[in-house]
Amino acid sequence: MSWITSYPATTFMPIQATEIAKEVDLLYAFLIISSLISFVILIGGMTWFLIKFKRTTADQKSAYITHNNFAEFLWSFIPLVIMMVIFYWGMVIFEKLRVPPTDIAAEIHVTAEQWAWTYKYANGKEFYSSANDPLIVPAGKATKLILTSKDVIHSFFVPTFRAKQDAVPGRYTQMWFEPTQPGEYIVFCTEYCGTKHSGMMIKIKAVPSEEYAAWYHAEKKGADTPADKGKVIFAQRACASCHSIDGSRIVGPTMKGLFGSNRKFADGSAASADDNYLRESILVSTAKIVESYPPAMPLFQGQLTDEEVENLIEYIKTIK
Ligand code: CUA
Repeated sequence: MSWITSYPATTFMPIQATEIAKEVDLLYAFLIISSLISFVILIGGMTWFLIKFKRTTADQKSAYITHNNFAEFLWSFIPLVIMMVIFYWGMVIFEKLRVPPTDIAAEIHVTAEQWAWTYKYANGKEFYSSANDPLIVPAGKATKLILTSKDVIHSFFVPTFRAKQDAVPGRYTQMWFEPTQPGEYIVFCTEYCGTKHSGMMIKIKAVPSEEYAAWYHAEKKGADTPADKGKVIFAQRACASCHSIDGSRIVGPTMKGLFGSNRKFADGSAASADDNYLRESILVSTAKIVESYPPAMPLFQGQLTDEEVENLIEYIKTIK
């Protein structure tokens, strides 16, 4: 594949295609340099003592030092400070990597299977991965991916973004990135998933945001959006007989403003209504019963496909 060899490799690290990549690399450089300094002090000191205190005559007595409080304090306290700096620094970057910003320009469903990826956009555009169909995202804007898998665990890794997330069957995971420059970036599957695991290499193409908007609004591949399809399923499965979409109370909770809201449950616990909560509540409604409502909803486990569940969730997201 020629696009791999055309990839610039200027340093021993991949290029820094996001702002976070620079921060990750800075921390990484700090780890390497502080490790090197520790190595020199430890191994250098040991070598120096070997030579300095070498026994030179057969009857020479060895020095007998039991302990030195000041030295022991130093070699405990200084590494502790360095470790706490690394811990805090890593925590700050980890949070930035994990928590998507609120202004997401593109939200894309990515489904892994042996041995390919499918990307689905909110307007119904859908692609089966190949080198000719890269995952197109806007440059300079934040993209959020909602990942899942049809079979085994896969992992979506973009080295140039320093971003990696597992795609797990039966649940949703998410990741986000904001490529600073237009360009093509390699994606690897980094969870061994069978014979053609290495064949799950694809690319992300970041294009200027006007170009992205033009591409996004150009003729669609699918006729309906996932939310449109979800609306049809919502009607077919008679969801509306128990769940209103206008905020009124029927048998079950209304769908209005549901997504992202804070849910209180009969057992006193609470959770945010995210993709995983909706998936669980559709398939196994009895898992979390909303406070003051009866456990009246039938189970849809085995009745709906993963894609139907995904479409329903996308529809629910639109009921604000
Ligand atoms: Cu998919 Cu490895």
